[in-house]
Amino acid sequence: MIASSQNVDLILPVVVVGHVDHGKSTLLGRLLFETGCLPEGKIDSIKKMINRRSTDFEWSYVMDAFKAEREQGITIDTTQIELRTGERDYLLIDAPGHEEFLKNMVTGAASATAALLVVDVVEGVRDQTQRHAYLLKLLGVQEVVVIVNKMDLVAHAKNNFMEVAKQIRSYLDELNINTQVIIPVVARDGDNLVIHSQKMPWYEGPTVVEALKALPKASLLIDEPLRLPVQDIYHFDSRRIVVGRIESGRLKIGDEVCFSPTGKVAVITSFEKWNVSQQISASAGESVAFTLDRELFIERGQIIHSTNAPHVTHDLLVRLIWFSRTPLELGSKLQVKFMTSIHQVSIASIKAVIDLKTLTSSLAERVQQNTIAEVVLHSRTPFAVDSVDELAPTARGVLFDSFNVVGGCVALAFSGMSASRNIYPTGHRISVEQRVLVNGHKSGVLWLTGLSGSGKSTLAMALEQELFKRGWQAYVLDGDNVRDRLNSDLGFSPNDRSENIRRVAEVARLLADSGSIVITAFISPYAIDRERAREIAPGAFHEIYVKAAVEICEGRDPKGLYAKARRGEISEFTGIDAPYEVPRQANLVVNTENKSVEQCMETLISYVDDAFGYVPSEQKDVA
Ligand code: ADX
Repeated sequence: MIASSQNVDLILPVVVVGHVDHGKSTLLGRLLFETGCLPEGKIDSIKKMINRRSTDFEWSYVMDAFKAEREQGITIDTTQIELRTGERDYLLIDAPGHEEFLKNMVTGAASATAALLVVDVVEGVRDQTQRHAYLLKLLGVQEVVVIVNKMDLVAHAKNNFMEVAKQIRSYLDELNINTQVIIPVVARDGDNLVIHSQKMPWYEGPTVVEALKALPKASLLIDEPLRLPVQDIYHFDSRRIVVGRIESGRLKIGDEVCFSPTGKVAVITSFEKWNVSQQISASAGESVAFTLDRELFIERGQIIHSTNAPHVTHDLLVRLIWFSRTPLELGSKLQVKFMTSIHQVSIASIKAVIDLKTLTSSLAERVQQNTIAEVVLHSRTPFAVDSVDELAPTARGVLFDSFNVVGGCVALAFSGMSASRNIYPTGHRISVEQRVLVNGHKSGVLWLTGLSGSGKSTLAMALEQELFKRGWQAYVLDGDNVRDRLNSDLGFSPNDRSENIRRVAEVARLLADSGSIVITAFISPYAIDRERAREIAPGAFHEIYVKAAVEICEGRDPKGLYAKARRGEISEFTGIDAPYEVPRQANLVVNTENKSVEQCMETLISYVDDAFGYVPSEQKDVA
């Protein structure tokens, strides 16, 4: 297994998925043969066996033989085979069905970052193909090489290939999966596996092996933040030794580490390794045993990290796939395992159920077998997890019901969660499109960010007035106003600022949904908070950086706050003793340093006209 190997970067795990009859095993068997990876005598022994049964040779028997060997050994219900290409090695992971695949992916037995998706050219994209593609997405697999198999059945015709390729590409695009390449092959005959097929001269792309070689390097988990789930604590003489596997990041003697969710801190004093003296560091993929400089309450399930911490919460929004025949319902009780921690959970809300065919989500009261849903899990013990977009390994969980695996899940973004039960969002009967038509302009959020005194409020209010004059629906949410009432419970610590921005983004979303142009004026100093705000209103969110250097803002000091901050009367003042993270990809930058309000307004207005202007050709019936 690669798990405990130091060479995590050298071997690339690739999961192979596809509809049962679309030729996965044939592809794998032939691929091993073509690359010279089959052990000597393998084919002969299979042929002998076939003769005894008097059937014809098929490449899939190679895989069957591998499987049989596996079954006698230990217990992993996927077949994992090594493919060596001379330059780089791959671990091809073949799971018999999506349940096994998912079980292994989420339990960490097989953790792939890339996939081969096999599709039969005659059958095209089927339910199972869609389910697999969606699972890839669900588990954070980013890179997919698509193999359109059985090209011999359509006389190697380009047209048939193009049609299926188009179908797949549009589905994967919608899922935001990076389709590396789509390759026409005849797995059985070895066409386009290693050598370019003479029968499909119209195809100029890479072969399967070339495509594998072009995949980005195996995940660079070593460079990600440290995550070390505690597996066990052993007592040896007077020492306590903590053991676990580093999922991401690195660790060395002398490092100060934190334990989630307790928040306790300690320093690594030694690594204890059998037969190895003086190990000083370790990194992702390694199992480690180590001692600490102090006695803490540590238990299995806690996550060791450095500065960048996982999220700690009692209510966790997850995307899950449900395998059990008994539907999942509001209030259902189960267990969920993230890494080494197990929680008793109940279903606090079912946010959406996702139709795999159309990829649309709808509200539902229960989650049926083989369905994907977004639900909130409530636990009395706090979860310490990452979101799948941030760090996939520590975002994956397995759902159990009395020791049976009933599903798999990944933690999603940590906003949009309702902590209370019995919440059922209701749909409006008037669509945003209808509102746009009546208002004569589009709706959305203009998110003004910048230092205190940069001119956000001035520009926001002037813009609101200008749009009002035109008869447009526009409203300003301003930092000081919102903090005076709605957010009067919040201060200026990083956490409070995050919460300030989260609430404002939610209010902005509602107002934008009502058809308004929402202009927000908040310092919003943290890029991550602004990104979360963007997610709340994707597509209709415009980040506008109101730019002025801190010296200029301090010179203006309209509220006298910089002076107070300098005198030490205000702490954590942005630009003085609290950071401001400059937007890297703002939709618009308005530099107010040496421009008049009128000049800045011109820039803003022309942006607003482009972004929100009404285009008659978009007219739709207001039914
Ligand atoms: S944010 O950081 O949470 O985005 P927000 O825009 O809501 O800030 O509020 C900023 C306003 O609060 C400033 O314009 C200023 O009037 C006031 N304020 C009071 N204390 C601070 C502080 N420590 N840092 C920044 N602004 C402060």
